[in-house]
Amino acid sequence: MNSLREQKPGLEARNAAWEVLQLVAAGAYADVALERVLQKRKLKPLDKRLVMELAYGAIRRRFFLDSWIDYLGRVSACKQPPLLRWLLHVGLYQIFYMERIPMTAAVNTTVELIKLTKLEKLAPVVNGILRSAIRSKEQGIELPLPVNSAEILAQAESLPIWLSEQIICWRGEKEAEKIAKAFNQTPPFDIRVNRLRITPDELLRQFLAVDIDCKKIEGCPYGLQVSPNSVELRNWPGYAEGQWCVQDRSAQWVAPLLDPQPGDQVLDACAAPGGKTTHLVELMGNTGEVWAVDRSPSRLKRFMDNATRLGMNSLNILSADSARLLNKRPDWEKYFQRILLDVPCSGLGTLARHPDARWRISPEQIDELVIVQTKLLEGLLPLLSPGGRIVYSTCTIHPKENINQIEQFLSRHPELILLEEKQTWPDLDRGGDGFYAASLEIR
Ligand SMILES: C[S@@+](CC[C@H](N)C(=O)[O-])C[C@H]1O[C@@H](n2cnc3c(N)ncnc32)[C@H](O)[C@@H]1O
Repeated sequence: MNSLREQKPGLEARNAAWEVLQLVAAGAYADVALERVLQKRKLKPLDKRLVMELAYGAIRRRFFLDSWIDYLGRVSACKQPPLLRWLLHVGLYQIFYMERIPMTAAVNTTVELIKLTKLEKLAPVVNGILRSAIRSKEQGIELPLPVNSAEILAQAESLPIWLSEQIICWRGEKEAEKIAKAFNQTPPFDIRVNRLRITPDELLRQFLAVDIDCKKIEGCPYGLQVSPNSVELRNWPGYAEGQWCVQDRSAQWVAPLLDPQPGDQVLDACAAPGGKTTHLVELMGNTGEVWAVDRSPSRLKRFMDNATRLGMNSLNILSADSARLLNKRPDWEKYFQRILLDVPCSGLGTLARHPDARWRISPEQIDELVIVQTKLLEGLLPLLSPGGRIVYSTCTIHPKENINQIEQFLSRHPELILLEEKQTWPDLDRGGDGFYAASLEIR
């Protein structure tokens, strides 16, 4: 790697981004792949940022970049050797989306990289495609338009066609375009202030005092938006003291919907890694009996680290399948005044945060998730005490997992009343993920 760094500035960062793309294509999650690739290298903070921007950007824009390969190459993107396809994405992404990178640097580094592989003889192909792309861009030539509006949106904003069709069907063409654009933005970095330890104003002052840009979030009283800098997050003010945790602004309105009272018995049935449970404990002033249940022991381990840092000692933790919790804990029948059910879902509201997620999820998987969510709802209802409240939440925008799921649940259970239902859509101006929550009370 040192030799790469010496050969040409920026070559190593592009090589690292290319490796991330290959790992993601082989099934790794983008954040895990990025971390693994960065750990192997000693890169300067600026280069690290370049790797992240290039890798995440090229993964997000896969459809658009493939369309250019289809248009300019002799062989379509899908039929290219994968190694070449992903490297072309790194080069094309710089040409189409990174104004500050000189076109020649984008071409030269990409050609250099292919020469270091067994595909070295394809260097002229790389050179040819990238130079044609630059000419097209300079002459204002655009990709041929597909036949219908869903395909046009899918190509322009790099969405799977099925998702583009769905969003247009739910929101209409104009709104769908805005949502798709929001999916391609770098999301704001939000934290939630731990009110048990500090006020938002005081924490804001501490961030500004060390020159970390930070501001309040409208409509989110305990949320602060921070502009990440090169300082490791764990070294930010108040981290070690448990004064805050990372949580998107949309996720911060879920726990308050449950309206937990100090002293309540509260169950968070899908709790790990604990963003919302710890919020509940904060709302309850660290009193009462809070149970955090999750099926995944490894995610619960992360949960415990987080809860300890935040100083939450009223928490109880259990690893179990919440759809069958009553089998394990028969004493919990009608036990809880409050239940939070933040179900496993397709995550379609968080595509800006997870660049690879759009290529992972399929309509068939969503149908399977809907069944899991229904089982959780049905399995947990008997644990709710009379007059108690259950909040069902997701980080998706798919109606099957949200409004339809709750409509059907209500129709099976006339003893339930819908108190409140909220859906946010990804939004360029407001920022924040797409989220859904319904609050239900049992008579
Ligand atoms: C959306 S995440 C929860 C996020 C969490 N509420 C937070 O705010 O940090 C869904 C969680 O549900 C857990 N899960 C999935 N199926 C489950 C089941 N049948 N029983 C319990 N937990 C389950 C997963 O392990 C995952 O941690």
